[in-house]
Amino acid sequence: MKGIILAGGAGSRLYPLTLVASKQLQPVYDKPMVYYPLSTLIENGVREFCLISTPQDLPKFAQLLGDGKKWGISIEYREQAKPAGIAQAFLIAESFVGKEAVTLILGDNIFYGADTFRKAFAEFQSGATIFGYHVHDPERYGVVEFDAQGQALSIEEKPKNPKSNYAVPGLYIYDNDVLDITRNLKPSPRGELEITDVNVAYLKRGNLRVHRLSRGFAWLDAGTSSSLHDASAYVQTIEKRQGIKIGCPEEAAYRAGFLSLAELQELAGKIPNCEYHDYLNQFVAEIKRQQS
Ligand code: G1P
Repeated sequence: MKGIILAGGAGSRLYPLTLVASKQLQPVYDKPMVYYPLSTLIENGVREFCLISTPQDLPKFAQLLGDGKKWGISIEYREQAKPAGIAQAFLIAESFVGKEAVTLILGDNIFYGADTFRKAFAEFQSGATIFGYHVHDPERYGVVEFDAQGQALSIEEKPKNPKSNYAVPGLYIYDNDVLDITRNLKPSPRGELEITDVNVAYLKRGNLRVHRLSRGFAWLDAGTSSSLHDASAYVQTIEKRQGIKIGCPEEAAYRAGFLSLAELQELAGKIPNCEYHDYLNQFVAEIKRQQS
């Protein structure tokens, strides 16, 4: 399965931070924001990536992430010259997707928790798989309504009167039909190719699965200065308490089997002396202890 990371947008709500670097390059506690969605997909076995961003920001992402080889993955880069909706990503990355299934993650979506994604990725065969997450302000998102059996009945983009409290987070899994569906989409009244319209198309075909994310699952928003701070505080709290890192691509690549322990150790050795370096060394030592 191919992976698209969409990291576009002006990030105007984070001004003046975004004058020099886009939202997805801002730190969330101890790492750049884009590390989190990247790690989420790596953990779920995605190995080939296309990162889409603005012409100004693309070189900065390339500087940060490179071609992915050191993590046992590949990353290519494509420009979104003008933001015209999330679904536009499929048109931009069409040749990258080829004939495969594809997952799309938004570069500012941070997830932490249970195994729901792992199961969804492992079970995915065809159609579309999306998720539902209980929030207090569903009108800000795509909103999914369920029937008594838990089947999705409707999905609406930023409805004034939401039919449920279940928002659709920015992680979507599609079969190759998504390319065809997107080619036939019409822009919405706000002039965008809406990801919600893609999901509605799959719903109409009877080919959409919506997994509800459990209460223990964290989906964090980092789009304003205050929510960015909250996301950092959350990550810091968990990392300090558990002695683990959230959103660490090196660790995710090892767990996915893309890097051997020796490769991970070598990689850690190249990182300058810092907390991140110490963490990876401790991680390697712990695995070695468990293996001996
Ligand atoms: C977008 C999607 C929306 C989804 C949200 C998740 O919203 O349009 O359906 O729930 O991402 O972050 P936007 O980023 O346009 O506010």
